This record gives sequence, C-alpha cells and structure tokens, in this order.
Amino acid sequence: MESNLQPPYYENYAYQPENLTAPRLVNGFYVGQQYASPYCPATVPRYVPRACTQPSAPAATRVHPISSPRKICTPRVRKSLCLSLSITILLAGAAIAGIIVWYFVTDSCFGSKIRCGTLAVCVSPSQWCDGVNDCPNGEDENRCVRLYGSRFLLEVYSSESKDWYPVCYDDWNDSYGRTACVDMGYNKDTYFKSTATQLTSPFTSFMRLNTSADGTDLYKKLYNSKQCSTGSVVSLQCIKCGLSSKNSNPRNRIVGGSAAALGEWPWQVSLYIQRIHLCGGSIITPEWIVTAAHCVEGSYSEPSHWSVYAGILLQQEMLRSKGHKVAKIISHPNYDSETKNNDVALMKLRSPLMFDDTIGPVCLPNPGMMFQPEQRCWISGWGAQRQGGNTSKELHAAKVYLIESSRCNSRYVYNGLILSTMICAGYLEGRVDSCQGDSGGPLVTEKHALWWLVGDTSWGTGCASVNKPGVYGNMTQFTDWIYRNMQANR
Ligand code: ARG
Repeated sequence: MESNLQPPYYENYAYQPENLTAPRLVNGFYVGQQYASPYCPATVPRYVPRACTQPSAPAATRVHPISSPRKICTPRVRKSLCLSLSITILLAGAAIAGIIVWYFVTDSCFGSKIRCGTLAVCVSPSQWCDGVNDCPNGEDENRCVRLYGSRFLLEVYSSESKDWYPVCYDDWNDSYGRTACVDMGYNKDTYFKSTATQLTSPFTSFMRLNTSADGTDLYKKLYNSKQCSTGSVVSLQCIKCGLSSKNSNPRNRIVGGSAAALGEWPWQVSLYIQRIHLCGGSIITPEWIVTAAHCVEGSYSEPSHWSVYAGILLQQEMLRSKGHKVAKIISHPNYDSETKNNDVALMKLRSPLMFDDTIGPVCLPNPGMMFQPEQRCWISGWGAQRQGGNTSKELHAAKVYLIESSRCNSRYVYNGLILSTMICAGYLEGRVDSCQGDSGGPLVTEKHALWWLVGDTSWGTGCASVNKPGVYGNMTQFTDWIYRNMQANR
C-alpha cells in the first residue's frame, strides 16, 4: 500500500507490494526542518529576511537606548500613560533585537518555506521549479524531476499545485530527456532512452509541453493538462543499468554462496587500500561507486589511498592490474559509527569506467518502488566464507531473502537495533550470509528484467549465525542523498 502524504524522494520503503494503479501524486516537498505554525507578520517588505516570532524566542540581549518622552507629558495626568509608552517602546526594541539575533543564530525556514540546500536561505513553495533561480545556488530549480516506480515514469514537480505529475509523451524528444537526466545528477553522456508508456492508473492531471513557448528551459514549457493527446506518458532511463550478462546461478551454497561467473554481477567492485581488499562496492554510473560509510571512516577517508577494481573475479588478478584511482569520497553526513545509522558513502573515480559485458551499473531504486516482504535478493563479494576466515580468492554470491524489519527487530533477533535506514536479509536459520570483507557491496533484486540495488552490506552479529541475519543499508532511503551529491559534485 502506498501512502498519499510522502516527501518527494524518501517515500519508498521496502516490504510493501507495489501498487501501480493507485493514485499517488504526492503533496509537499523536502522542506528541511518544519516548525509548528509560528506567528508571522503579514506585511513584510520584500528582500527583508522574513522572521517570525515564536513564544520560545530568546529574549533580546541588547536594548537600544530610547529618548525620554518626558517633554511631551505633563507630570501628573500623563504620567502613567508615559510610563506605559516607554515600556512599550522598550519591549518593542527588545523584541526586534531578539528577532534579529534569533534569525542569525538559528538556521530555520519559517512556516511553509523551503530551505535552499543546506543554507539558511529559504524560498516559498511557489518559487520551486518555476523556471526562476531564487536560491543562491539554484537549488530551487534543479530538483524538479524524478523517476517514479520500476517503469521509470518521469514526473515533474509543479510549484503551483505542490505535487508531482507525469509528463505527456506528446512532442517529447531525447533532448528534453537529456536535460531532465542532467537535472537529476546524471552526466548527459550516460543518457539511455525515453519511451512512451501507456498509463493504466487513474491519473487526473499531467504535464504537457508547449513547444511554441520560447526559451530553452524545459520547465517553463510545461503546463498542467487534464489529458495527453497521445494517451501515453514519458518513461525516462538516464543510464542503461541493471543488466547482467549471465543468468543468476541457482545454486545456493560469501558464507554458503557459490563462485560467480564473469558478467553475472557487473556492478560489483573490489575496493583496495594499498594491496589489500577491504570492502565491496556497486557501480551506479561510470564515475560513481556506492559503498558503506564504515569502509571509509577515519584514516580510510583519504581518496588517494584507494583503488577500485571492476570486471575482475580473482583477487590475484587485481594484484597484477592497476585499478581505478579515486578522486573524492563522500560519506553520509548523518552516518553514526555506533549504531551504523546511514551506513552509505559515495566514491567518485578520477576517470570514468568503460562499460562492457563485465562492467556495468546497477539501477538505483526509484521512489514508489516497493519490494515484497520476502523479496528474493542476491548478495556478492570477496568476504570471508566463514566467521573469522580470510578474504575469498574469487567473487562469491548467494541468494538471500529480505526479512521484515518488525521481525528483524524482534527480541530474539536484533531487538530494536534495526533502524529505518537498514534492511535485513538472509535466513533466521543461519548458514547463508555476507561476512567480513563483503561490506559496502551490493544486495540486489531482479524486477521487470532489471537488477536494482536494494542495499549495501553493513553489519551483522557474527556471520551466518542463527537469528543474526545480515544487515544492509536501505538504499531507498539514500537515493535522494545520492542524486543530490552526484549533481553537486560533477
Ligand atoms: N562489517 C562487515 C565488513 O566490514 C560486514 C559484515 C556483514 N555481516 C553479516 N553477518 N552479514 O565487511
């Protein structure tokens, strides 16, 4: 079941059946911190920071001296009036000073305003995606498109109705497709295709292109429409992803896995420091690798120390080849090394990978993609084949099933340690699991003939023990962060 009130990106949680026919236009936008209805003065001059008072506003620290009103008052009759006037002026001064101090001390967007990235600059929802750059870095105009569901439906955010709408295929072309992909954070060179998709769900509103509108801005050319003349909407693939050149090996023996074939898991990479394999990772674009934040913690955060190996099964062979150098490492800002909350990181390569049958990207899950409670998935890596064992010489893979968080959090399993940024997979009876050295590597599933990144290997108590399945970063929670960082670090 899908909920109606969801933020634009973090809305797809695992373990729920995908419902393609339910109306699911989403209200609102990612607005950073929201504050409960503060009092806002109605008339505020333009370009003056709009600060609203709240009962919790700290008292003024400075009070401006005010001139004595004594002269205009007669000593007796107006004494009390003067006194109250003085106090009023004094309090007003204090309140203004307080508001100014509070505005600069706190970093808040008041009322329904939306924050521009991480800055303390806010704009109103109607300024998002209206074709005009209102934020200092234009953040209000570059997160206006998203791909929805496993069929990659292109959706555009309407500032007018504060909702996401599919786009009519009428007059759409690859050039518009490329623009939308670049806006999401992809490189224009990876653009794959735009296709017409017949909509079966009861959408009531669409975005349509007005090709005669001047200018090049895609979003200025779009207008709301009750229907599409072609009856179909745009499906957009910004990269050819999720293709395995081998059918997945059905044998089920990482711990309890079996050796992989070349091209079977083409997104799997091995991450080295000096001449040692430390972690796994997944290719998502020619330049970007997803891994675990705990792999690049502390002294491991230096990009120049790492090498990335793609398209190789044997560790022995990696030692003989050069690998790819890393230009940048971005760890999730809210990663917590104690709880392993937000255990995800990005590596940007110094030079792009060349994709072929043995090297290729996995698909990032789109919002609105739901996985079954016990979705069949696969894990892969060069991790130990038993608890306390050495790194494997060759790439191994194993079939695992998602385990519902409520079950994984039960007292006899992980007793509440599983947060919403985590997802459990494996077997409560043990035997098959990821293990030391598999971290950062992929947990993938096949859906509509494509492979999707469901998680990144994060932690577990021991390996393959009874009631202690593997815990993975819940990728659906991280895609918004990933796109934002790809976009900001081109
Ligand atoms: N933290 C480990 C690593 O760095 C991965 C552990 C996975 N454990 C498990 N039982 N699934 O490689």
